[in-house]
Amino acid sequence: MKRCIRNGQIYGTGNSRSGKPGDIWIQGGVIEKITEPGEAFWQEDTEYIDAGGCWVVPGLVDLHVHFREPGQTEKEDIASGCRAAAAGGVTTVCCMPNTKPAADCEEIIRLIDEKAGNACGVHVLPVASITVGMNGKTVVNTRKLYNCDTQCKELTGRGIAALSEDGRSVMDSAVMESAMVQARDLGIPVFSHTEDHAITAESPEGEEIIVARDILLAKKTGCPLHLCHISTKGSLDLIRLGKRWGLKLTAETAPHYFTLTREDTANKTDTLRKMNPPLRGEEDREAVRQALKDGTLDVIATDHAPHCPEEKQRPFAEAPFGVVGLETSFAVAYTELVKRGILTPEELVRRMSTKPAEILGLRRGIIAEGYPADLAVIDTQREYTIHGEHLYSKGKNTPFEGKRVFGKVVCTLADGNVIYREGEEA
Ligand code: NCD
Ligand code: ZN
Ligand code: ZN
Ligand code: ZN
Repeated sequence: MKRCIRNGQIYGTGNSRSGKPGDIWIQGGVIEKITEPGEAFWQEDTEYIDAGGCWVVPGLVDLHVHFREPGQTEKEDIASGCRAAAAGGVTTVCCMPNTKPAADCEEIIRLIDEKAGNACGVHVLPVASITVGMNGKTVVNTRKLYNCDTQCKELTGRGIAALSEDGRSVMDSAVMESAMVQARDLGIPVFSHTEDHAITAESPEGEEIIVARDILLAKKTGCPLHLCHISTKGSLDLIRLGKRWGLKLTAETAPHYFTLTREDTANKTDTLRKMNPPLRGEEDREAVRQALKDGTLDVIATDHAPHCPEEKQRPFAEAPFGVVGLETSFAVAYTELVKRGILTPEELVRRMSTKPAEILGLRRGIIAEGYPADLAVIDTQREYTIHGEHLYSKGKNTPFEGKRVFGKVVCTLADGNVIYREGEEA
């Protein structure tokens, strides 16, 4: 099927064309041609998608989501997670291994890959745990996982996107070092959840101690390291140092860390704002924004962490950590960063698509002729209110309940196929 996305303002072209209106002609899943608006590149057999007044961006690449399958499909499953991703303009996700059981072996990675193959077409790149059963002791069989025959292998050359113990840290530095040596030899990035479990997560040092340690281990081993959900000013200083050392070091934050603080949470016991790491202070939020601008933070990921309403309705101390984010990340980032003049549109696309694709070694995250047609059409002028009950995700636990935002995803394509269209049932 031939398609043409007409009249959109195209961002993420990687050249001076960016931000200009144009038509994108798609065939065989690939962008065949980008023309001036209104040109008749093909005459017949073409489905036209009107993007007038909208942005067209490369499909977003989210390095950090939790799809809960296998084991906790009442919270989310791969199909529902993919639907949420598509509705958020996200065409590639890395799904974290803290499932039940943990994604620590070939069998589970292949199961995830198979379920993803039956979902809507979002590319699901599995992340394997660093240790067996996330026990913190025995490193997984990295070579077997590397060789695993998955869609991830087709897209990146590796059976898994990364190794990560997300949900907790590998507290034994020798185990972490050994995993990083193996990952380096195979060319697998390590995604680090940075939390010292001996120190309360409420203190910034709880995060910063592991940030510092893992940067030092990246220096020692030469392993590519990506730091997850960075939230404190101190972590950013440490990342700057590591980058100055010339390490293969990247870092992400999530929309809640550049939007919310613990202070502006009217109700301090709101479980919809309970996540790991926790919301920080005003200085941290400002530092995170500046770090997204100066590139200390390379990526905006969501840490999409769905939980059941019953669980989030428990008393604060007993409710699980985590918030959903796939369907709100673009709108929140656009509203908070672009509309406030902190990031340019081009910089936002870089943080949400181009750079994460680069980290994965994925030939996506850019709108150019010859590239796969992973695209999102977004009406950035449309203002609306975020409501958990309207989300496609099984998780309704958004920290942005009631927030007014700009930016509605109207259509998402993966490999040239329409995987989401506003107003159409999945
Ligand atoms: C995540 C989860 O629910 O799996 N929760 C969270 O608060 N971020 C785990 C994690 O990302 O560390
Ligand atoms: Zn984590
Ligand atoms: Zn996570
Ligand atoms: Zn509501």
